[in-house]
Amino acid sequence: MDDSVIGALFDAAAKVRTHAHAPYSQFKVGAALVCEDGRIFVGCNVENAAFPSGTCAEAGAIAAMIAGGGRQIAAMAILGEAATPVTPCGACRQRISEFAQHQTRIVAGNTAGLRQSFTMDELLPHAFSLRAEPHA
Ligand code: THU
Repeated sequence: MDDSVIGALFDAAAKVRTHAHAPYSQFKVGAALVCEDGRIFVGCNVENAAFPSGTCAEAGAIAAMIAGGGRQIAAMAILGEAATPVTPCGACRQRISEFAQHQTRIVAGNTAGLRQSFTMDELLPHAFSLRAEPHA
């Protein structure tokens, strides 16, 4: 995946992060993904007074992609304000893997500009799948 695309994903993640609803944790997250046809979809975390009902930024970006007719994540960026790059939670790793391949690039970032690039397999080896064949 081209560096300019990853840069565009972080720009989009930074923008959508400003829309996050995180009054309980104060931890705003933005996520952006590029799908198979080159379109970029974004999501931010949306917390709820009933805490488990909150949703992660990655889940929002995936929902936007599916609603828009996309089906494959070609690359994804996640951005938050932390000392180290913000990596997806365990549940989101499983969510992402549903629409990714072993080598799909997931780039974690923080607002200070640190970036750490992972493959899907590095983030979630041996992901659960109902498919007869493992992901490509
Ligand atoms: N969060 C995300 O949206 N994505 C991540 O990758 C890590 C955590 C959200 C969930 C919750 O709203 C807040 O960050 C604190 O956990």
